[in-house]
Amino acid sequence: MTENVDVLIENASEVVTLQGSKVPRKKEEMNELAVIKNASIAIKDGKIIDVGKCNGYSAKRVIDASGKTVVPGFVDPHTHLVFSGSREFELELKLKGFSYTQIKEMGGGIGYTVKRTREASVEELMKEALKRLDTMLAYGTTTCEAKSGYGLNIETEIKILEAYNRLNKKHPVDIVPTFLGAHAVPEEYKGREEEYVDLVVNEMIPVVTKKNLARFCDVFCEKGFFTREQSKRILLEGKKHGLIPKIHADELTNCGGAQLASEVEAVSADHLLEVSEEGISEMAKKGVIAVILPATVFSLMKKDYAPARELIDANVPVALATDLNPNCYTENMQFVIQLACFYMKMTPAEALTASTINAAHAIGEADRAGSIEVGKQADVLILDCPSHKFIPYHLGVNLVGTVLKKGRVVFQV
Ligand code: NIG
Ligand code: FE
Repeated sequence: MTENVDVLIENASEVVTLQGSKVPRKKEEMNELAVIKNASIAIKDGKIIDVGKCNGYSAKRVIDASGKTVVPGFVDPHTHLVFSGSREFELELKLKGFSYTQIKEMGGGIGYTVKRTREASVEELMKEALKRLDTMLAYGTTTCEAKSGYGLNIETEIKILEAYNRLNKKHPVDIVPTFLGAHAVPEEYKGREEEYVDLVVNEMIPVVTKKNLARFCDVFCEKGFFTREQSKRILLEGKKHGLIPKIHADELTNCGGAQLASEVEAVSADHLLEVSEEGISEMAKKGVIAVILPATVFSLMKKDYAPARELIDANVPVALATDLNPNCYTENMQFVIQLACFYMKMTPAEALTASTINAAHAIGEADRAGSIEVGKQADVLILDCPSHKFIPYHLGVNLVGTVLKKGRVVFQV
């Protein structure tokens, strides 16, 4: 008897399943990829129904993967996908030695992008975002988180979150939306920061949650942006309304962001370049996931990356993300994995765990995505290389040959 399935991916040189623990992977677990050599995958109704030998199936579509590596679709757990107002001119300023904060004061930075995003129609925003989503998919990202935060008024924050809703229906990449009304204090609230926090707390959060537009609430907790106290107030209010906290923490300076993440039981603390030892140990105690964004450090032309090794050694689960935004313009998780290995000394296996199953945990998607396991969504990449070790080794090329999303081929070279 043979069982009919929709797709059979046959005879891959290796299938990196990441089968295992149902909670975020820590320490040595991050090196355990559960690789099966010379393996196949059977897919039916968009789901994985078998992995391994897969004898006894007849498939509508058979894909020969001999000599190739199959991995779960990448999960990118931190992006600012919807924006208008790219900032390519900032590169020359960075080359002259101006810092992120100086560029912001010169009229660049978040404020520059906010102005253009406010002016853009939802259709224009979607057109730009769809192009980025196509690039993500081509480079292997099948699920992402995406933040608002370039509106900074009710109307535009809602416009961005509604764009995510529509993009989700229109594009194969699954998008998990985050409300980031506290990304910066907008120009018109200069000197009235507390009033802006009131607006976020009293008006934005209730509207966003009433319309059911976001799963998470994020805050840029940073000197010159939002203080620890303001961040706490916003995150707790979000939590009261059902939004799970996330934090841009300890990126440019140490503001105790990691400790705050632990205090409010955030699912993740992101960036962490300047995290303290105390912050690391608090995160470990509360199981807060560290979402590390090495492409941001690269874009900022800084030389000190987040302390990934210390975080892993201290028992903090680590995930990786692009941080796709106008300051750090990349959709490419393969590039992020390369930076993680070369600049933060993560092993190829740790970086892959951080870009799949741990990333899925960081956005509440681990029951559907992040590993190749029976019952999960068939989000799968066929890479044109004989082992996963090529991902951080073969630099600057796209190794993705085929992308399947929910069992459908959505990209092919
Ligand atoms: O995650 N750090 C704050 N927000 C973004 C940068 C946004 C921007 O510069 O437009 C980040 O790096
Ligand atoms: Fe960010």
